[in-house]
Amino acid sequence: MNFPICESRTQVTPYFPIGWYSIARSHELRSGEVMPVTIFDRELALYRSRSGAVNVMDAFCPHLGAHLGVKGRVIGEDLRCPFHGWKFGPDGKCNHIPYCDDIPERASVRAWHVEEANDSIMLWFHPEDKAPTFPNPILEELSSDLWSEPQYWEFTVPNHVQNIAENVCDPEHFQYVHNMPNTPPNEITIEDNGRILHLVADAKEAVHPNTLQATVYNPGHALVRTTYGEGAEMLVYSTAQPVSLYETKMRWTLTVRNEIVDMVGDDVMTGIKNGIFDDMHIWQHKIYREKPVFCNADRDLVTFRKWVRQFYVDGMRFVETEKPAVRFVE
Ligand code: FES
Ligand SMILES: [Fe+2]
Repeated sequence: MNFPICESRTQVTPYFPIGWYSIARSHELRSGEVMPVTIFDRELALYRSRSGAVNVMDAFCPHLGAHLGVKGRVIGEDLRCPFHGWKFGPDGKCNHIPYCDDIPERASVRAWHVEEANDSIMLWFHPEDKAPTFPNPILEELSSDLWSEPQYWEFTVPNHVQNIAENVCDPEHFQYVHNMPNTPPNEITIEDNGRILHLVADAKEAVHPNTLQATVYNPGHALVRTTYGEGAEMLVYSTAQPVSLYETKMRWTLTVRNEIVDMVGDDVMTGIKNGIFDDMHIWQHKIYREKPVFCNADRDLVTFRKWVRQFYVDGMRFVETEKPAVRFVE
């Protein structure tokens, strides 16, 4: 007998999109330090070698499966397993077994593409382990004297990274979720390379009239520039760590032009945080609609859904999953 599938428990969910994701801030990992990382439903080991290079590899030792990121030890450029001392190079290959001269052919773990940019440790994801096909942006404002010392904020969203990214192309929800009086005129454009998406919104009637420009490099990886006038600009740089299909850790970096530090200060951050809390109850309970019923005014959402396809490998785009019970995320 076939039981009906309850829609609220089962859904087709996008897999993890191709792109650059953050796993830590650069300043959080000093030379010789090791840390475990959960991302893409996997466990990884992150370490900074003695020379200062950042390396990431699959966490579980090919020998007996110890987690290399928990009490593993940095030896020069290598990482030593905490269980029996097998040592792995940045390429993930075992190069030393302290009690045996022969190193088995298969004694290796997958090494990941990782680089540092904008005080973030950025991991490249491709489901077929292909090398990076586009670079990380370089944000000169983060190290410029004209801009304030960056403020950092992290929070966890109980949803898929694509669903969070989709918000950029959803101006209509501002009225209903964020209590805005109207929807500011906005336009979405995509660069000639097809990859970078821009949104410009003109909030002339806001309490502090502004122009907002969002640049999206890959789902969950974006820069939002808000301009209130000459020399009065604010930047929010956002990176994501898709912990699992249902949980995404966001890392935000905020900086403002020195001219307006005193004017905005902590108020801006508080305002942004409240905005995110408004979104939370939607994200916490929504499912993913593979084929939503769009109305004629939903053109930006249609653009987003077309744009986002390039971040998946056809045939590996969706996974069928059971939606976990709703959880409270602080
Ligand atoms: S489990 Fe890693 S060396 Fe034995
Ligand atoms: Fe929102």
